[in-house]
Amino acid sequence: MIILGGSASTSLAEKVAKELGQKPGNVEIKRFPDGEKYIRIHEDVKSKDVAIVQSLYRSPDEYIFEYLIMADTLRDMGVSSITGVIPYLAYARQDSRFYPGEALTSASVAKLFEAAGTTSVLTVDCHLHRLGDVSKVFKVPAKNLSAMPSLGKYARETLRPRNPIVVAPDEEAEQWAGTVAKELDAEHTHFTKRRIREEGQTSSRLELDTGNAEFKGRDVVFADDIISTGGTIAGAARACKKKGAKRMFVVCTHPVLAKGAIKLVKAAGVSRIIATDTIPSPISKVSVAPVLAAALKNNP
Ligand code: R5P
Repeated sequence: MIILGGSASTSLAEKVAKELGQKPGNVEIKRFPDGEKYIRIHEDVKSKDVAIVQSLYRSPDEYIFEYLIMADTLRDMGVSSITGVIPYLAYARQDSRFYPGEALTSASVAKLFEAAGTTSVLTVDCHLHRLGDVSKVFKVPAKNLSAMPSLGKYARETLRPRNPIVVAPDEEAEQWAGTVAKELDAEHTHFTKRRIREEGQTSSRLELDTGNAEFKGRDVVFADDIISTGGTIAGAARACKKKGAKRMFVVCTHPVLAKGAIKLVKAAGVSRIIATDTIPSPISKVSVAPVLAAALKNNP
C-alpha cells in the first residue's frame, strides 16, 4: 500500500507509513498566486492500493478540495483502491437537519468523497451523534476507529490519577469515558448536557446535570471527542470542583481548540489536557498513527 499525505497531514502520514515500515509516497502540492492548488503525484500507483491521509481541521474546505483532486488524479492514474484516512472528519456534526433548509453537510461531504473515487474510509472517534456510525453516512465501507484506549493508557502511565473517576461531560461521551475507565480500572459516570440554541443563532447556552456520583477528594479524568471552545469541559470541571474534586485532567481525541479554549479549561481548574495528533496542537501528546496503521493492514 502507498501512503500519501495531503498538506493537512504530512507529519501524520509519515508516522503511519513508519508504523507500516515504509516511507510516505511523494506528492507535490503547491499554491498558485491566485490561490489555486497544483498537485502532482510522483509515484507509480497503477494497480496499487493507495491511502490518502488528510485530516479536515481548521481549513476543512481547502483540505476537502485537495483530497478530492488527489483522489480523482489517483483514479485517472489507474489505482486499484483509494482509502480515505480522515482522522478528523469535518462536517460530521451536521448529521441531521435541525431546521428546515439546513445543508446536511455530513452527507454532502461523503457523496463528494465517493464521487472522487474513494473506495473505503477510516476515521477516528467520529462525531455523528444522531446517526451513530460513520457507515451510515458513506455508501463505501467506512470504519470508525477509537483513540480512547491509547488516551486511557497515557492517562494511566503518565497522569496517574489517584482514586479516579472518569467523567463524560455529556451522554454521547459515555462510550469514551467507559473505554478510558477500563484502562484506568476506574468507575465512570456521565453528565447530561443540554445545548440551548435559538433559531438564527450559531452559539448556544449549556445546561449540565451532574447526577449523583461522588467526587469529594477524588481525581477526575474527563473524556470527550472534541474540545472546541472548551465550554463543555470548563462547565463540567467547575461542577466537579464544587463537589470537592481534587486534581482534574482531560483526555480528548480532536483538539479543535478555538481561541482561548485551553485558557478557559485551565481556569476551570483542569491541570492537564491531553489530545491526539488527529489535529496537530501543543497538547497532541498521543499519536493515532498506530491505530490507523493497524486498520490499514487489516483493510480488505
Ligand atoms: C459535543 O457533543 C462534543 O462531544 C463536545 O463535547 C463538544 O463538541 C465540545 O465543544 P466545546 O468545547 O465548544 O464545548
